[in-house]
Amino acid sequence: MANYDYSRASMTAKQAAATPATFPHRHLLGIDGLSRSDVYTILDLAKVYIDKNRQSDKKHPILKGRTLINLFYENSTRTRTSFELAGKRLGADVINMSVASSSVKKGETLIDTAMTLNAMHADFIAIRHPESGAPHLLARKVNCSVINGGDGSHEHPTQALLDALTIQQHKGKIEGLHVAICGDILHSRVARSNMKLLTLLGAKVRIVAPPTLMPSCPESFGVTPFHDMREGLKNCDVVMTLRLQTERMNSSFVPSEREYFHFWGLDREKMAYAKKDAIILDPGPIIRGLQIDSELADDIGRSMILEQVEMGVAVRQAVLELLAGRV
Ligand code: CP
Repeated sequence: MANYDYSRASMTAKQAAATPATFPHRHLLGIDGLSRSDVYTILDLAKVYIDKNRQSDKKHPILKGRTLINLFYENSTRTRTSFELAGKRLGADVINMSVASSSVKKGETLIDTAMTLNAMHADFIAIRHPESGAPHLLARKVNCSVINGGDGSHEHPTQALLDALTIQQHKGKIEGLHVAICGDILHSRVARSNMKLLTLLGAKVRIVAPPTLMPSCPESFGVTPFHDMREGLKNCDVVMTLRLQTERMNSSFVPSEREYFHFWGLDREKMAYAKKDAIILDPGPIIRGLQIDSELADDIGRSMILEQVEMGVAVRQAVLELLAGRV
C-alpha cells in the first residue's frame, strides 16, 4: 500500500516515542487527507500517552505557553472534556468557550467568532458544529490549528482514531478484521470517519442498518451494506453500535423505539452471531435499551465503551502534540 510506513507501525510504544515522527498537517479536519503512515504516527504516539495517563503524575508540559480553545456549538461530554484534559495534561492553557452565553447569541457569525479567537493568539481551536464543513471553512480563515470535534453528519476524526486505537489494543491489529457498524449510519459522523479510517487500515467493514438509516451508495465507502443484523454480525471481530441521531432527523425514520430495539438493538442473542471473542464499541452517549441492551453495555468482558473514553484522551494528546510540531 502506498505511503505506509510499516517500520513505524510495527514499533513498540517505547520505540515510537524515541523515534522522531513527521506529521505534515496543520489541521485535523477529517480522515480524508491522512495517509496510513499519518494514522500510525498518531496511534503510536497515543500509546505513549495511555501509559503516562495511568501514572499518578499525568503532566507532560510540552505545550506550556500554548492555548487551546474549545468552541463547541453542539453538546458534548466526552469530546470536549477529553480535549480539555489532553490540553491541560500537556501544559497548555485551555479555554472552554460557552457558545450559549457568547456573542454568537447576538448574531455573531462563526467566522467572526473564530477570527476574534484567532486575534487572541489561540494556537489550537477544537470545534464542534452542526453544519458539515464548518471546521474546513474556519481553517481557511485562521492561522492556528483547527481540529474537527464533529461537524454535522460529516466527520468526527478523533473519534475514529480512538476507536482504531481501542481495536488495536484488544486485537493487536486492524488489517483483515471484520468490523460491523450498526444503527443510524445515515446521520452519523462517527460512522463516516470510521468507514474511511478502518478501510484505510485494511479492515473489512460492514454497515448494518434499516433502509431508512442507510446512506445512498454505501459501496462508495468501500463497505458492505446489510439490512439484517444477524447476517451483518456473522463472524465479526468488532461490533460498533450507534445511537439514533434524533437531533438530525426532520421526520420519523423508525416505526417505534420498541420495534427498533427488537430488530436493530444489540443484545446477547444477536451478539452470538459475531465471533466468540468479538468486542463491542459505542462512541456514546449510549441510549440503554435502544441501540444496545443495558446489561450487555456493562459487560466488561465484551464492551469496550469506557476504554474508548480512556483512549480518547490519549489520542487527543497525540493530535495536539503532532499539530504543534513538537515531535
Ligand atoms: N463520542 C462523542 O462524540 O461523545 P460526546 O458527544 O459526548 O462528545
